Amino acid sequence: MLLRGTAGTPLPSSLHLPTATTSRHHPHSHSLSISASSSSTTSSSATFPATPLSISDAELESRGFALHRDAASLDLDRLNAVFVAVGFPRRDPGKIRVALEHTDALVWVQQRRTEKPVAFARATGDGVFNAIIWDVVVDPSFQGIGLGKAVMERLVDDLLARGINNIALYSEPRVLGFYRPLGFVADPDGIRGMVYSRKQKKKK
Ligand SMILES: CC(C)(COP(=O)(O)OP(=O)(O)OC[C@H]1O[C@@H](n2cnc3c(N)ncnc32)[C@H](O)[C@@H]1OP(=O)(O)O)[C@@H](O)C(=O)NCCC(=O)NCCS
Repeated sequence: MLLRGTAGTPLPSSLHLPTATTSRHHPHSHSLSISASSSSTTSSSATFPATPLSISDAELESRGFALHRDAASLDLDRLNAVFVAVGFPRRDPGKIRVALEHTDALVWVQQRRTEKPVAFARATGDGVFNAIIWDVVVDPSFQGIGLGKAVMERLVDDLLARGINNIALYSEPRVLGFYRPLGFVADPDGIRGMVYSRKQKKKK
Protein backbone atom coordinates (compact mmCIF):
# COMPACT_ATOMS: atom_id res chain seq x y z
CA MET A 1 0.00 0.00 0.00
CA LEU A 2 1.24 3.49 -0.82
CA LEU A 3 0.72 6.20 1.74
CA ARG A 4 0.82 9.83 0.84
CA GLY A 5 3.93 11.08 2.57
CA THR A 6 2.26 14.04 4.22
CA ALA A 7 -0.08 14.31 1.85
CA GLY A 8 -15.85 13.56 2.95
CA THR A 9 -18.49 12.78 4.27
CA PRO A 10 -20.07 9.53 3.10
CA LEU A 11 -22.34 9.82 0.12
CA PRO A 12 -26.03 9.87 0.59
CA SER A 13 -28.11 7.70 -1.65
CA SER A 14 -27.73 10.11 -4.53
CA LEU A 15 -24.51 10.17 -6.44
CA HIS A 16 -23.79 13.77 -5.48
CA LEU A 17 -20.57 14.11 -3.61
CA PRO A 18 -19.75 16.86 -1.16
CA THR A 19 -17.62 19.42 -2.91
CA ALA A 20 -14.54 20.58 -1.10
CA THR A 21 -14.07 24.30 -0.84
CA THR A 22 -10.72 24.25 -2.50
CA SER A 23 -9.15 25.83 -5.49
CA ARG A 24 -7.57 24.23 -6.59
CA HIS A 25 -7.79 1.51 -7.50
CA HIS A 26 -9.60 -0.98 -6.74
CA PRO A 27 -7.09 -3.42 -5.24
CA HIS A 28 -6.01 -5.21 -8.34
CA SER A 29 -5.25 -8.79 -7.84
CA HIS A 30 -1.56 -8.13 -8.37
CA SER A 31 -1.37 -4.77 -6.75
CA LEU A 32 1.21 -3.38 -4.43
CA SER A 33 -0.06 -0.90 -1.97
CA ILE A 34 1.46 2.42 -1.13
CA SER A 35 0.25 5.20 1.06
CA ALA A 36 0.58 8.71 2.27
CA SER A 37 -0.04 9.93 5.75
CA SER A 38 0.67 12.96 7.77
CA SER A 39 2.72 12.65 10.90
CA SER A 40 -0.46 12.22 12.88
CA THR A 41 -3.21 10.12 11.43
CA THR A 42 -5.59 11.38 14.06
CA SER A 43 -5.11 15.06 13.40
CA SER A 44 -8.16 16.81 12.07
CA SER A 45 -6.28 19.85 10.83
CA ALA A 46 -4.95 19.52 7.31
CA THR A 47 -1.95 21.31 5.96
CA PHE A 48 -3.54 22.86 2.94
CA PRO A 49 -2.98 23.43 0.11
CA ALA A 50 -0.43 20.67 -0.13
CA THR A 51 1.14 21.51 -3.46
CA PRO A 52 0.40 23.88 -6.30
CA LEU A 53 -1.64 22.38 -9.09
CA SER A 54 0.36 21.36 -12.14
CA ILE A 55 -2.48 22.50 -14.39
CA SER A 56 -5.21 24.95 -13.47
CA ASP A 57 -8.92 24.42 -13.98
CA ALA A 58 -8.86 27.27 -16.49
CA GLU A 59 -6.05 25.67 -18.47
CA LEU A 60 -7.94 22.39 -18.57
CA GLU A 61 -11.02 24.25 -19.78
CA SER A 62 -9.00 25.96 -22.48
CA ARG A 63 -7.90 22.54 -23.68
CA GLY A 64 -11.48 21.36 -23.94
CA PHE A 65 -11.78 19.49 -20.66
CA ALA A 66 -14.31 19.96 -17.87
CA LEU A 67 -13.61 19.00 -14.27
CA HIS A 68 -16.23 17.31 -12.13
CA ARG A 69 -16.32 16.45 -8.44
CA ASP A 70 -19.56 14.52 -8.41
CA ALA A 71 -20.98 11.70 -10.44
CA ALA A 72 -24.21 13.43 -11.42
CA SER A 73 -23.38 13.62 -15.11
CA LEU A 74 -21.01 10.68 -15.23
CA ASP A 75 -21.93 8.09 -17.86
CA LEU A 76 -21.16 4.81 -16.10
CA ASP A 77 -21.06 2.77 -19.29
CA ARG A 78 -18.48 5.10 -20.76
CA LEU A 79 -16.51 5.04 -17.52
CA ASN A 80 -16.64 1.25 -17.65
CA ALA A 81 -15.27 1.43 -21.19
CA VAL A 82 -12.28 3.41 -19.90
CA PHE A 83 -11.71 0.80 -17.17
CA VAL A 84 -11.74 -1.93 -19.80
CA ALA A 85 -9.49 0.06 -22.15
CA VAL A 86 -6.77 0.25 -19.47
CA GLY A 87 -7.09 -3.42 -18.61
CA PHE A 88 -9.37 -3.37 -15.58
CA PRO A 89 -12.12 -5.95 -15.64
CA ARG A 90 -15.49 -4.79 -17.00
CA ARG A 91 -17.82 -4.34 -14.07
CA ASP A 92 -21.54 -4.48 -13.54
CA PRO A 93 -22.74 -0.86 -13.98
CA GLY A 94 -25.15 -1.39 -11.09
CA LYS A 95 -22.23 -2.26 -8.84
CA ILE A 96 -20.27 0.75 -10.07
CA ARG A 97 -23.25 2.88 -9.08
CA VAL A 98 -23.28 1.36 -5.59
CA ALA A 99 -19.52 1.85 -5.30
CA LEU A 100 -19.93 5.52 -6.21
CA GLU A 101 -22.69 5.90 -3.65
CA HIS A 102 -20.16 4.73 -1.07
CA THR A 103 -17.41 6.96 -2.35
CA ASP A 104 -16.26 9.90 -0.23
CA ALA A 105 -14.64 11.97 -2.95
CA LEU A 106 -14.12 11.75 -6.66
CA VAL A 107 -12.67 13.80 -9.46
CA TRP A 108 -13.14 13.17 -13.12
CA VAL A 109 -12.38 14.93 -16.35
CA GLN A 110 -14.77 15.08 -19.25
CA GLN A 111 -13.82 15.86 -22.81
CA ARG A 112 -16.22 18.69 -23.70
CA ARG A 113 -16.54 17.80 -27.38
CA THR A 114 -17.60 14.19 -26.89
CA GLU A 115 -18.82 14.51 -23.28
CA LYS A 116 -17.01 11.28 -22.46
CA PRO A 117 -15.08 10.71 -19.25
CA VAL A 118 -11.36 10.58 -19.99
CA ALA A 119 -9.80 10.65 -16.52
CA PHE A 120 -11.14 9.45 -13.18
CA ALA A 121 -10.11 8.81 -9.58
CA ARG A 122 -12.11 8.24 -6.41
CA ALA A 123 -11.58 7.74 -2.71
CA THR A 124 -13.44 5.85 -0.03
CA GLY A 125 -12.94 6.15 3.68
CA ASP A 126 -14.28 7.05 7.08
CA GLY A 127 -14.81 10.70 6.20
CA VAL A 128 -12.54 12.09 8.92
CA PHE A 129 -9.26 10.21 9.36
CA ASN A 130 -8.58 7.78 6.52
CA ALA A 131 -9.11 7.42 2.81
CA ILE A 132 -8.10 4.96 0.14
CA ILE A 133 -7.87 6.00 -3.47
CA TRP A 134 -9.24 3.65 -6.13
CA ASP A 135 -9.80 3.42 -9.85
CA VAL A 136 -7.22 5.92 -11.05
CA VAL A 137 -7.61 5.76 -14.81
CA VAL A 138 -6.97 7.84 -17.88
CA ASP A 139 -8.34 6.84 -21.28
CA PRO A 140 -5.34 5.55 -23.27
CA SER A 141 -5.96 8.16 -25.98
CA PHE A 142 -5.53 10.90 -23.38
CA GLN A 143 -2.64 9.54 -21.35
CA GLY A 144 0.59 11.46 -21.05
CA ILE A 145 -0.93 14.96 -21.15
CA GLY A 146 -1.25 15.56 -17.44
CA LEU A 147 -4.81 14.42 -16.80
CA GLY A 148 -3.87 11.65 -14.35
CA LYS A 149 -1.83 14.07 -12.33
CA ALA A 150 -4.63 16.64 -12.53
CA VAL A 151 -7.26 14.34 -11.03
CA MET A 152 -4.89 12.97 -8.38
CA GLU A 153 -3.76 16.41 -7.22
CA ARG A 154 -7.34 17.54 -6.84
CA LEU A 155 -8.54 14.36 -5.16
CA VAL A 156 -5.74 14.52 -2.60
CA ASP A 157 -6.36 18.21 -2.00
CA ASP A 158 -10.07 17.62 -1.53
CA LEU A 159 -9.32 14.96 1.09
CA LEU A 160 -6.77 17.14 2.87
CA ALA A 161 -9.21 20.04 2.87
CA ARG A 162 -11.58 17.83 4.84
CA GLY A 163 -8.86 17.06 7.37
CA ILE A 164 -8.32 13.54 6.01
CA ASN A 165 -4.56 13.16 6.27
CA ASN A 166 -4.10 9.41 6.07
CA ILE A 167 -4.41 8.69 2.36
CA ALA A 168 -3.48 5.32 0.89
CA LEU A 169 -3.70 3.56 -2.42
CA TYR A 170 -2.72 0.36 -4.15
CA SER A 171 -0.26 0.67 -6.98
CA GLU A 172 0.78 -1.70 -9.67
CA PRO A 173 4.59 -1.79 -9.82
CA ARG A 174 4.66 -0.10 -13.22
CA VAL A 175 2.81 2.92 -11.86
CA LEU A 176 4.89 3.57 -8.73
CA GLY A 177 6.78 6.28 -10.59
CA PHE A 178 3.51 8.09 -11.29
CA TYR A 179 2.46 8.17 -7.64
CA ARG A 180 5.80 9.02 -6.00
CA PRO A 181 6.00 12.63 -7.25
CA LEU A 182 2.46 13.10 -5.99
CA GLY A 183 3.73 12.48 -2.46
CA PHE A 184 3.08 8.76 -2.06
CA VAL A 185 5.67 6.52 -0.47
CA ALA A 186 5.84 2.76 -0.06
CA ASP A 187 6.17 1.29 3.41
CA PRO A 188 6.39 4.59 5.30
CA ASP A 189 8.33 4.09 8.54
CA GLY A 190 8.43 0.40 7.73
CA ILE A 191 4.67 0.08 7.82
CA ARG A 192 3.54 -2.59 5.36
CA GLY A 193 0.14 -2.89 3.78
CA MET A 194 -1.52 -6.30 4.00
CA VAL A 195 -4.37 -7.57 1.89
CA TYR A 196 -6.64 -10.44 2.81
CA SER A 197 -5.90 -13.35 0.53
CA ARG A 198 -8.39 -16.17 0.30
CA LYS A 199 -5.90 -18.11 -1.78
CA GLN A 200 -3.20 -17.89 0.87
CA LYS A 201 -5.63 -18.89 3.60
CA LYS A 202 -6.58 -22.04 1.71
CA LYS A 203 -2.92 -23.06 1.57
CA LYS A 204 -2.60 -23.20 5.35
C1 LIG B 1 -1.22 5.75 -14.57
C2 LIG B 1 -2.09 6.77 -15.26
C3 LIG B 1 -3.30 7.07 -14.40
C4 LIG B 1 -1.27 8.04 -15.47
O1 LIG B 1 -2.11 9.02 -16.06
P1 LIG B 1 -1.54 9.99 -17.21
O2 LIG B 1 -2.57 10.99 -17.48
O3 LIG B 1 -1.05 9.19 -18.35
O4 LIG B 1 -0.28 10.64 -16.48
P2 LIG B 1 0.14 12.18 -16.55
O5 LIG B 1 0.21 12.59 -17.98
O6 LIG B 1 -0.71 12.96 -15.65
O7 LIG B 1 1.61 12.08 -15.99
C5 LIG B 1 2.02 12.81 -14.85
C6 LIG B 1 3.48 12.50 -14.61
O8 LIG B 1 3.62 11.12 -14.26
C7 LIG B 1 4.50 10.49 -15.17
N1 LIG B 1 3.98 9.15 -15.40
C8 LIG B 1 2.83 8.79 -15.96
N2 LIG B 1 2.68 7.45 -15.95
C9 LIG B 1 3.79 6.96 -15.36
C10 LIG B 1 4.24 5.65 -15.04
N3 LIG B 1 3.51 4.56 -15.35
N4 LIG B 1 5.43 5.51 -14.41
C11 LIG B 1 6.17 6.59 -14.10
N5 LIG B 1 5.78 7.87 -14.35
C12 LIG B 1 4.61 8.05 -14.99
C13 LIG B 1 4.49 11.33 -16.42
O9 LIG B 1 5.68 11.19 -17.15
C14 LIG B 1 4.35 12.72 -15.84
O10 LIG B 1 5.60 13.17 -15.39
P3 LIG B 1 5.95 14.75 -15.34
O11 LIG B 1 4.98 15.38 -14.39
O12 LIG B 1 7.36 14.78 -14.86
O13 LIG B 1 5.76 15.26 -16.73
C15 LIG B 1 -2.53 6.28 -16.67
O14 LIG B 1 -1.38 5.97 -17.43
C16 LIG B 1 -3.43 5.08 -16.63
O15 LIG B 1 -4.65 5.22 -16.59
N6 LIG B 1 -2.85 3.86 -16.69
C17 LIG B 1 -3.65 2.64 -16.76
C18 LIG B 1 -4.43 2.40 -15.50
C19 LIG B 1 -3.54 2.30 -14.30
O16 LIG B 1 -2.50 1.65 -14.33
N7 LIG B 1 -3.99 2.97 -13.23
C20 LIG B 1 -3.29 2.91 -11.97
C21 LIG B 1 -3.68 1.66 -11.25
S1 LIG B 1 -2.65 1.42 -9.83
